Amino acid sequence: TGYITYDPGFVNTGATSSAITYIDGDAGILRYRGYPIEQLAEHSNFIEVSYLLIYGELPTQTQLADFTERIERHTLLHEDLKRFFDGFPRDAHPMPVLSSAVSALSTFYQDSLNPFDEPSVELSTVRMLAKVPTLAAYAYKKSIGQPFLYPDNSLSLVENFLRMTFGLPAEPYEIDPDIAKALDLLFILHADHEQNCSTSTVRLVGSSEANLFASVSAGINALFGPLHGGANAAVLDMLEDIRADGGDVARFVTKVKNKEAGVRLMGFGHRVYKNYDPRAKIIKKTADEILGRLGKSDELLDIAKKLEETALSDDYFVQRKLYPNVDFYTGLIYRALGFPTEYFTVLFALGRLPGWIAHWREMMLDPARKIGRPRQVYTGAPEREYLEIEKR
Ligand code: CMC
Repeated sequence: TGYITYDPGFVNTGATSSAITYIDGDAGILRYRGYPIEQLAEHSNFIEVSYLLIYGELPTQTQLADFTERIERHTLLHEDLKRFFDGFPRDAHPMPVLSSAVSALSTFYQDSLNPFDEPSVELSTVRMLAKVPTLAAYAYKKSIGQPFLYPDNSLSLVENFLRMTFGLPAEPYEIDPDIAKALDLLFILHADHEQNCSTSTVRLVGSSEANLFASVSAGINALFGPLHGGANAAVLDMLEDIRADGGDVARFVTKVKNKEAGVRLMGFGHRVYKNYDPRAKIIKKTADEILGRLGKSDELLDIAKKLEETALSDDYFVQRKLYPNVDFYTGLIYRALGFPTEYFTVLFALGRLPGWIAHWREMMLDPARKIGRPRQVYTGAPEREYLEIEKR
C-alpha cells in the first residue's frame, strides 16, 4: 500500500494467472490449453475447441456427443425474447443489438444469477453457446426486414447459424460445406486470446460476482471498438477507401506513416505479437482458398496483399514490429461468404464466446480472486473552498 505502479493500458501488469491460453508474442506462438493453434485449425472443430477451452481437456467421443447434444437442445429463444428486437431501429448496428440481447438473457434465466452454483453455471454455459448464434442471426434478419427462422437442430451449430442467417422460411437452404467449414475454422481461430480487452472486461465485470450473461454482454461491448474486434470491419472500410482512391497503396502507407489525422493501418499491429500473428497466417491462406473455391476474385484481396507487402518492407513498420493481425484478412472471407461489413464483428463475438466463458469460469474458481479495482495517479486540483454560484 502507498505505492502505485503506473501502467496505462496495463502493458506490464499481470492481473491474473490463467491456464487457458499461451501466447509467445515474439515467436508468434498461440496455444489453447497447450495445443498449437495450427493443429487445432487443421484437425478440430469449433464445438470441440469450445469444450477444450472451457473444461481444460479435449473431450472423449461420449463427452463431445453429450456436449453437442446439450447445446443443440438450447438453440431456441424464448418467444418473448424475439419481440425484444422490435424495439430497435432497423438500421441499428448489430453489435449493440447483440450485447443488449445477451444482457437480456439474465432476465429470462434468473437461475443464472448465482455465479457459484455449479449446475446453473453449466446451464448458462450451454445456453450462451447455443442461443447467441440464434440472437446474432435474428439481429441480421431484423436489419434486412426478413422473418426470423427457428433453429433446425438436425444441423451443426455453424450450419444452423448459416441457415438462420441466410435461409428463408419457404425455401430449403442448401448449406455449402466449404462455407460452413471456413466459418468453423474462423471461429476456432477467434476462440480465445488470453487477457485481451474484451476478455479482461468479462473478468473485471465478473470479478464483482456479476453473472455470466452480464459479464459476456460487457465483453461484447468492449469488442465493438475499432482497436479491438471492430478492426475487422474497419479493415474492409479502409480497403474500400483505398480502392476508391485509385488503389494507390503506397500513398495510403505514407499517410499512415505521417500519422495524418490519426490514420492507422487497420488490421496491423498487436500489443503482444511482435511477429506475424499465427492466426493471420492461417487466415491469409484460407482467404485465398475460399475465394478460389467460391470462384470469387476480389480486387480488395489484391489491395490487401499489396498493402501487406508494402508495409512489411517499410522501415516504419519493421522498426515498430507491426505485422498483420487476425483482423487483416478475415473481413475478406466474411465478405466472400455473403456477410455485410457491419456484421463482421458479430462473427468475431460468436467465435470468442468459449474464451469469455472459460475465463469467467476460471476466475470464479480461483482462490486468489479479488474484485478488479485498479488504482490511479490523481492529477486534479488540490483541496479548495466551495464558492457560492453568485460569486463565480
Ligand atoms: N498503424 C500504424 N501505426 C501503428 C499501428 C498501426 N496499425 N499500430 C501501432 N502503430 C504504431 C504506433 O503509432 C506507435 O508508434 P509511435 O511510437 O511512433 O507512436 C507504435 O506503433 C506502438 O503502437 P501502440 O499504439 O503503442 O501499440 P499498442 O500495443 O498500444 O496497440 C493496437 C495495439 C492493436 C491497438 C494497435 O496496433 C492498433 O491500433 N492497430 C490497429 C487496429 C487493429 O488492427 N486492431 C486489432 C488488434 S488484433 C485483434 C483484436 O484485438 O481484435
